[in-house]
Amino acid sequence: MSSAYTPGQEFAGLVAVITGGTGGIGSATAEYLSARGAKVAVLDVNQSTDSTYYSDRCDITDDADVQRAITAIAKHFGAIDILINNAGIGAGGDVTANSDEEWLKVFNVNLFGAVRVTRAAMPYLKQSNVASVVNTASVVADIGLPNRALYSSTKGALEALTRAMAADYIAAGIRVNAVSPGTADTPWVARLLAESADPAAMSANLVARQPMKRLITAHEVAHAIAYLASPLSSSTTGTILPVDAGLHSLRTS
Ligand SMILES: NC(=O)c1ccc[n+]([C@@H]2O[C@H](COP(=O)([O-])OP(=O)(O)OC[C@H]3O[C@@H](n4cnc5c(N)ncnc54)[C@H](O)[C@@H]3O)[C@@H](O)[C@H]2O)c1
Repeated sequence: MSSAYTPGQEFAGLVAVITGGTGGIGSATAEYLSARGAKVAVLDVNQSTDSTYYSDRCDITDDADVQRAITAIAKHFGAIDILINNAGIGAGGDVTANSDEEWLKVFNVNLFGAVRVTRAAMPYLKQSNVASVVNTASVVADIGLPNRALYSSTKGALEALTRAMAADYIAAGIRVNAVSPGTADTPWVARLLAESADPAAMSANLVARQPMKRLITAHEVAHAIAYLASPLSSSTTGTILPVDAGLHSLRTS
């Protein structure tokens, strides 16, 4: 093999920052990248109790907090090579359901949070020769699902931002991609079920919607994030990769 990188340890020596890194997909991604050699820094409003990784209680809605946390990571590790913009919050309802404050709150995390963290990390990413940004979008950016007007809008904007950033930084050698998960079995979905009047019926509906008739695992999404972040994927940029049990493209009945 002519590559300079060993598959399985291709992240050796690279520094990866993961927002939402204590959540379901974020913690699976931390585990995955770390197992393949990355030095992982986890940013989350929930402080990690896992001492395996560098972690910082950082709120991505606060620009000063983001600047502080990213500067501290760069100082601690001496570099930032990979950024996973994964933190997100949900919202339900049609277009009339949410107040201006709720629209601003969800955009503030799901879109503006990714902007803030990327802006802060950019000077360090520009110094890496394998720099990569991966954003966690969602199937709802591409498929109209009921009662997801606000949440879907944030993820559609995040996909547009992914492609725009990929174009802006292609000359600098910084790749920018996104994953687009379907419904994944994480604490997020557990919360949705807990809030539902009929959790069993809701769970059955979520599974029935997936062409594979099962939820996606956090590790399956982490694997796709790692594929996009990997230096071995050096020709892949501006891509939105579905991890959705077929939901984007299949009709099975
Ligand atoms: N679970 C799914 O079905 C699904 C499907 C498609 C996309 N996604 C996306 O995947 C990403 C991860 O979701 P998950 O399922 O792991 O949910 P999760 O709730 O387990 O993880 C989300 C994490 O983001 C963190 N977070 C929220 N607001 C933050 C803030 N202001 N600053 C820093 N951290 C913050 C939370 O504390 C949490 O740890 C989200 O962007 C979500 O929109 C999830």
